[in-house]
Amino acid sequence: MRIGDVSVDPPVLLAPMAAVTDLPFRTICEEFGVGLTITEFLSAHALSVGDPKTTGKLTASLDGRRFGVQIFGREPEMMDKAAKMAVSIGASLVDINMGCPAKRVVAGECGSALMREPQIAQELVRAVVAAVPANIPVTVKHRAGWDQGHRNAPEFACAMVEAGAKMITVHGRTRTQGFSGKSDPDIIKLVREALPSHIPLIGNGDVVDVEGYLRLREHTGCDAVMIGRGALGNPWLFSRLREVTAGRPDPGPPGLEERLSVFRRHVDLIERLKKGPRTLHEVRKACAWYARGLYGCNQLRLRVWETKDLAASRALVEDYFTQLIERQSRLGLAPEMGTGRDEIDGGFESDEAA
Ligand SMILES: Cc1cc2nc3c(=O)[nH]c(=O)nc-3n(C[C@H](O)[C@H](O)[C@H](O)COP(=O)(O)O)c2cc1C
Repeated sequence: MRIGDVSVDPPVLLAPMAAVTDLPFRTICEEFGVGLTITEFLSAHALSVGDPKTTGKLTASLDGRRFGVQIFGREPEMMDKAAKMAVSIGASLVDINMGCPAKRVVAGECGSALMREPQIAQELVRAVVAAVPANIPVTVKHRAGWDQGHRNAPEFACAMVEAGAKMITVHGRTRTQGFSGKSDPDIIKLVREALPSHIPLIGNGDVVDVEGYLRLREHTGCDAVMIGRGALGNPWLFSRLREVTAGRPDPGPPGLEERLSVFRRHVDLIERLKKGPRTLHEVRKACAWYARGLYGCNQLRLRVWETKDLAASRALVEDYFTQLIERQSRLGLAPEMGTGRDEIDGGFESDEAA
């Protein structure tokens, strides 16, 4: 799949997720073959006034790999500045967030609130298109609509393209749904039918496995799929999709040894790339992700949350996996337990969630 001059191969993207898709996690997903990663949404206002917390999140992918930057805002001048900053660090595309349902974002009439004001949204797209070089595509990510009575995604997407957007991503929930209920693939299909055929459409929402990816593409005709929560502690999904979309057999889920080694790699990256008081918090999150769905994971999560330093967190996880590996090889017991939705969503329903 191509977005202007930018090719995305395989046709699968990592969804931007606030406080999740930081540089370590993006790096892991890139190493597992995701087609493209995008930073979490960054306030154009905060970027343009040089807020250190926000500029610290404006990070280029490692080793020259391509990446996108997502910005949000409402003032064209701030969007202009923020887009130029994204390009200055090497972004291959600039995505505009028009889907965030969080109260503080909507209160500022940004994010999904823009779906109620298509003309203002168009002005923002035009401002960003004018700010960046012609070879940098400007893209828009939005929802099905504001609420059940206002599911205007098809018209809205076409209006964004008319203003200059080169790719559209649709999360099939409305703003009022937040993250509840189900993402509706039918609205994604309607957007595909409404858009000019040369504009790629990315389907998004509730894809957590290879079957879900294939189903969404088949049902909607979307050109690629963006995956968020399904990738947490599960970057293998990208390598599996790389194989399957190339017509090769699905290599299947990872073994325990591989999970442990990727956990180690992820924590190494956190230690190398993230400094400051949040590091322990980030490592604790990674501990929970890589054990997700495995026997005893809830207990591990609680114990890790009580640790006071990185070494202790790492040691608990090493110990946990060693015991699981032994349990599997000596007793022949499967390491997985049944996963419920709360396992998947646990800890990610923050007001940050866009
Ligand atoms: C913790 C969290 C943070 C999110 N932050 C962003 C964000 O910064 N920008 C954005 O466009 N969407 C954001 N989203 C929405 C996701 O990109 C995606 O649209 C949504 O989670 C549905 O996809 P999924 O079911 O594959 O997770 C966030 C979602 C979560 C759970």
